Amino acid sequence: MSSSDHLRKPVLPGKGASDYERYLRTDELLALQKNAEELLHKDEVTFQVVHQASELLMKGAAFELERVRILIAEADYANAARLLRRSNQILDYPISMLHVLETITPYDYHLIRAGLGHGSGLDSPGFLALLHIGPRLGEAFQEQLHKKKLSVDDIYRRHEEFFGLHDVAERLLDFDERMHLFRFHHLKLAQRIIGGGVVGTMGTPVEVLHQRMEHLFYKELWDVRNQITANANLPAQNQTEQKRKR
Ligand code: HEM
Repeated sequence: MSSSDHLRKPVLPGKGASDYERYLRTDELLALQKNAEELLHKDEVTFQVVHQASELLMKGAAFELERVRILIAEADYANAARLLRRSNQILDYPISMLHVLETITPYDYHLIRAGLGHGSGLDSPGFLALLHIGPRLGEAFQEQLHKKKLSVDDIYRRHEEFFGLHDVAERLLDFDERMHLFRFHHLKLAQRIIGGGVVGTMGTPVEVLHQRMEHLFYKELWDVRNQITANANLPAQNQTEQKRKR
């Protein structure tokens, strides 16, 4: 018996031959996919794995965003921005994994789809959690501006002075952009696989996905750019008007 043999023996409670399997609960996790006999098509493994992985990652992102909401309320902007960054990095994966599903060809997808019942992404717990936390983060942010008697334009104009709040604003914008990108790439996926002129498994026309893409959490953060550009154009406009008057 070597001196390190005892380290191979699991010490954690639970099922699994090693502590790795026990901690990650790989027995349960890897039993959550259909087995070979249940598959309606071999591509169904990819379809399930991508979906399940997306749900897990969205759950993780929403968890971090709830922490962010509390940090913003406590005016701890550095940590709020740090966890927003993490959450945004997590969300990059569900977005990029949508492209994996583009490798399923439409005829094969319909074999898989036949087994989905009324299952629809509209009931995605992960995406619903993100839709729930999004506006609450916006409220927490606005509350801070209100307390400090600042406008959105103030923190952009005086961004060095209000570095923390400005960083939070930019990371919120990143989050909003990721939600938009998820919806955009998901719409393209649906158009490629089932077509843009049909209805989904819950009776929602694919066209509705297009409309939902227009939704933004933080319109004021996007709109402030228009105001900044309009202000930047003002001196040039004034000069032209003065020339015209001469
Ligand atoms: C072959 C792949 C896919 C197709 C053809 C597809 C199709 C659709 C369709 C047609 C809808 C409209 C609602 C309905 O079902 O009636 C929808 C909604 C949705 N799906 Fe998918 N989907 C696919 C993959 C995914 C994946 C991998 C996710 C990741 C979790 C996902 C998440 C969602 C979400 C969150 C919605 C609601 C969207 C919103 O609120 O804007 N879908 N999907």
